[in-house]
Amino acid sequence: MNNFVRNTHKLNKHYIGRLYSQVVTPFEVKAEQGSCVNYDKLIEQFGSDPISEEQIRRLEAITGKKPHHLLRRGVFFSQRNFSDILDAHEKRNSKVPPFYLYTGRGPSSQSMHIGHLIPFIFTKWLQDTFDVPLVIQMTDDEKFLWKDLDQKTLRTMTVENIKDVIAVGFDPKKTFIFNNFDYMGHMYRTVSRIQKSITTSQVMGCLGLTNSSNIGKIAFTASQAAPCFPSSFPHIFRDEKLNSKIKCLIPCAIDQDPFFRITRDISNKLGFQKPCLIHSKFFPSLQGNNSKMSASDGMSSIFLTDTDKQVQSKINKSMSGGGATLEEHEKFGANLHADIPYQYMRFFMEDNDELERIGREYSSGRMRTMEVKKIAVELLLDIIKGHKQRREQITQQTIDDFMNTSQDKWK
Ligand code: TYM
Repeated sequence: MNNFVRNTHKLNKHYIGRLYSQVVTPFEVKAEQGSCVNYDKLIEQFGSDPISEEQIRRLEAITGKKPHHLLRRGVFFSQRNFSDILDAHEKRNSKVPPFYLYTGRGPSSQSMHIGHLIPFIFTKWLQDTFDVPLVIQMTDDEKFLWKDLDQKTLRTMTVENIKDVIAVGFDPKKTFIFNNFDYMGHMYRTVSRIQKSITTSQVMGCLGLTNSSNIGKIAFTASQAAPCFPSSFPHIFRDEKLNSKIKCLIPCAIDQDPFFRITRDISNKLGFQKPCLIHSKFFPSLQGNNSKMSASDGMSSIFLTDTDKQVQSKINKSMSGGGATLEEHEKFGANLHADIPYQYMRFFMEDNDELERIGREYSSGRMRTMEVKKIAVELLLDIIKGHKQRREQITQQTIDDFMNTSQDKWK
């Protein structure tokens, strides 16, 4: 463990002592005001496992690639059966992919926010590193069932969000993107098998639904579960006999875990492997580390369509961990954990030495809040500018290629 990781860890421990009540579901993330999400406790509550140093070392050894900074800094922090994926990679043969990747997005806004990039950036790194197929689900049905959105609006949002996803840079030859409203026929047999294996009370308990929830919400779990199984993609996995052997790895923030806990419980019964998971922490809201950046709360988010001026103004108004007065700041230094601009750098700044330097200077009070905000603004503007440039190149043909259900590109 390097010093930076160790110090951040210590800092987390310090805060954990003050953390008690928190809510983490796919639909809500909230810690107590003034505190932050307690990730150690979440691992305990959800029954997942922390990512170990040994797993990170092994990943580096078997792939020959330096682990991504999101992994080294503990942003991806929790997992389920990740070692099985490393085993599968080691035992791979050239004929069949050792596993496939599955992730997704619920298109509830015209544009994704910058926090949504985190699982997608990491998924791209996994795809580049392991050279495996990737499926990306757009849950337009989920957002129809949960939000006050009509299907026409959702169609536009889905296309706009698909462009955001493609702009992350996935390999078009190895990536399949689909939206549930249009693709459902292809996976409905698998969806029905899942629906038949899960009871209403299991879903209600796991997702926090009630007797007055609409029945679509209860059934939706099967839509998000189905892509964990290769039978949902007959154009990619053509040899049905192999379906019981193929593993799936899901990178996502930990809010999505409840869906996959239910899925794992029924996988073997249906003749499939349990999906493996790798979970990230949340990119925090502009207002503070006690809630996640969320597209449904415009005030909490920096959108990928925001102008430079909007980004600058949002960061300047974001929660600061600096001292209340200059005197206090110089005396006690900044609280890095509470400081949103600094936290954003932890997610996006690749240069470890520079991040460490800023952390050192700022926490000692030598660096001022405005300086840190300025660096964060420049960093995020750079990320957003690159994203917009790649997005502008996307044509209808690009989208069609990613969403094509023919077998051709998978031969
Ligand atoms: P959605 O659209 O809420 O989020 C898309 C992905 O982004 C993650 N995420 C975040 N990550 C870091 N910081 C944040 N503040 C933040 N907010 C959201 C989510 O965990 C997710 O990985 N039901 C899903 C769509 C979906 C899916 C999947 C996601 C379908 N199949 C498989 C992951 C894996 C949803 O509405 O995600």
